Amino acid sequence: MILITGGTGYIGAHVALECMVRGEEVLILDNLCNSQRSAIDRISVLAGKRPGFIFGDVRNRRLLDSVLRDYPIDAVVHCAGLKAVGESVREPLRYYNTNVGGSVVLCQAMAQAGIFRLVFSSSATVYGDCTCMPINESCATGQPTNPYGMSKLMCENVMKSVASSDPRWSIGLLRYFNPIGAHASGLLGEAPTSTPNNLLPYLLQVALGERRALAVFGNDYPTPDGTGVRDYIHVEDLALGHIRALDALRDRRGVSLWNLGTGRGYSVLDVVKAFEKVSGIPIPLNVEARRPGDIACCWADPQKSIEELGWQARHGLEKMLADAWRWQCNQHKRDEVRKAN
Ligand code: NAD
Ligand code: UFG
Repeated sequence: MILITGGTGYIGAHVALECMVRGEEVLILDNLCNSQRSAIDRISVLAGKRPGFIFGDVRNRRLLDSVLRDYPIDAVVHCAGLKAVGESVREPLRYYNTNVGGSVVLCQAMAQAGIFRLVFSSSATVYGDCTCMPINESCATGQPTNPYGMSKLMCENVMKSVASSDPRWSIGLLRYFNPIGAHASGLLGEAPTSTPNNLLPYLLQVALGERRALAVFGNDYPTPDGTGVRDYIHVEDLALGHIRALDALRDRRGVSLWNLGTGRGYSVLDVVKAFEKVSGIPIPLNVEARRPGDIACCWADPQKSIEELGWQARHGLEKMLADAWRWQCNQHKRDEVRKAN
């Protein structure tokens, strides 16, 4: 059985579904601070069976001890955490407490229970303002520009130390590039509860007419059209990366680093154009100043993951955007029905 912390969230729900489709038993632990219980119903519809669910906090050691004792868990995927960059600047202690504190407590409880296979949701943010493109796993980690990024780097360092202290650990640090998209069914996707920071959720709200225009944060970067370039990856491809990592860790010890990206960068304007093509909806733009802390370019060298995990992203940008748009339209319909009742 796989324990997935943060398994009702955007990425965790896709990982949970992918594990279940592959015949694994899944137990989700989430405190629902940024997700809803209804994700469990939607995972169940798609998987044809229900994952286990524990409502609780990953920092609650007593709860973790009992979960790891009472269920036949043999590996953990740790997705639970806080991820809003701007919020992390305003509330750094909450971010360090949840992200770093949660990882420490989880590792303690796992060691106590004799469970040593762990996959962690890390981020390309740990590379900081890396200038060697594409970024591979041997590029040095940099100096993340905000507490969220620092917390991810700290979690990685905690896990590296833990693995050096005891040879039984097998830990996979998955460095996600920019996950977007949604499950092809339109039933699972990202549902931000406040004003989105990230490009895609904001763009989708503009497309629905919920916001007036998309702010383009800077058109004077040293990129082909002056806007920031990122490696957008379909969340279903990302989920599959976790399955491959869980498998690979059976035969590995210590810490393994894997980039989960496509190897291809797209600018903000590329994303807008592709979205307009897919949806037929024009997106009004306002070019604004650069967002503090943003870097010009960031895309992955996925070669190590291809070789060691036999994993490669399959979906292109238009598919990611079409799936995200389907999910957003379905969400919108659900909200309208809820308001009408
Ligand atoms: P999300 O907010 O949708 O999911 C995180 C889940 O963790 C939520 O369901 C939330 O309720 C839960 N959670 C938060 N704190 C918790 C706690 N203390 N105890 C139990 N549950 C808790 O975010 P996501 O996009 O699915 O991200 C999942 C992980 O991937 C996070 O660790 C995030 O930092 C990392 N990550 C995300 C991105 C991205 O762009 N989405 C990029 C890189 C890394
Ligand atoms: N952007 C805009 N307008 C917006 C939002 C974003 O122009 O309203 C631009 C940004 O300037 C950047 C690009 O769109 O050039 C992507 O920005 P996102 O906020 O979507 O993503 P980031 O690359 O800044 O960061 C994301 C996650 C981080 C994670 C990182 C990993 O937010 O948590 O990817 O690469 F660490």
